[in-house]
Amino acid sequence: MPPTDQLDPDKIKANLNTRRIGRQVVVYSSTSSTNDVASEYARNTDNDGLVIFAEEQTAGRGRGGNIWHSYRGESILCSVVLTRNRLDAELLSLACAVSVATGLGKVGADQASIKWPNDILLNGKKVAGILVESKSGDRAGVCVVGIGVNCHQTRDCFGAELRPKATSIDIESRTVCDRTTVARRLLTSLEHWLEVAEKDSRAVTDQWSALSVQLGHRVRLNCDRQEFAGNCIGVDPQEGLVLQLDAGGVRMFPAAHTTIIK
Ligand code: BTN
Repeated sequence: MPPTDQLDPDKIKANLNTRRIGRQVVVYSSTSSTNDVASEYARNTDNDGLVIFAEEQTAGRGRGGNIWHSYRGESILCSVVLTRNRLDAELLSLACAVSVATGLGKVGADQASIKWPNDILLNGKKVAGILVESKSGDRAGVCVVGIGVNCHQTRDCFGAELRPKATSIDIESRTVCDRTTVARRLLTSLEHWLEVAEKDSRAVTDQWSALSVQLGHRVRLNCDRQEFAGNCIGVDPQEGLVLQLDAGGVRMFPAAHTTIIK
């Protein structure tokens, strides 16, 4: 579908009530991955808060080396440059998930929810994903937050395997969303939650708990090539997901080393 709501940096920035995130906005028609572009911009400390959008990515990626595919104009594909990040990796990841879920808010009948660590769900299906990256050579405090949000996809856009698991804002709202409006809400929400996280990590974990689909439920996961199962009893801003293990005891799982099985 050709984009009817083409992204325009001036429209995204117009009256955007943020001091940090979205101070500068760049829109690419096509690029490999907005995370790669953002990581180049991140070499300059002054680019803190700059956001790269693309209508299309030729090598979009997700967590665990997965491909993140989206046809031109269907999604929000963006990466936020953070050169002055003061949050630990776990808290940053939680704050980003909370930002995207609250930024999307209620769509149709459903409030966007969080499947730890980085999946945002609507109606139990994935509508958005987040990929936080920093390079080993990067200075402390430098990272890129990549966000992909399915906007205009119809059910047919997803292959047979993805169809039961993926959705879009348009599918859930039964209307056609305006990507500029969604993008502005995401940036505003990210600014808010990064600020909250710096002052009060508890406020972030409380909001995470309110939006989590896993809290109080059984979770199976892989951590450093070992499988674990247990009841999710919370999330820790430094150590990650907290499980009451079936095998006994409580253990915390950092996002960088963990893959959810179910
Ligand atoms: C995931 O769910 O595995 C994370 C997906 C993150 C996708 C976004 S799209 C914009 C940015 N550029 C990328 O190559 N990936 C992220």
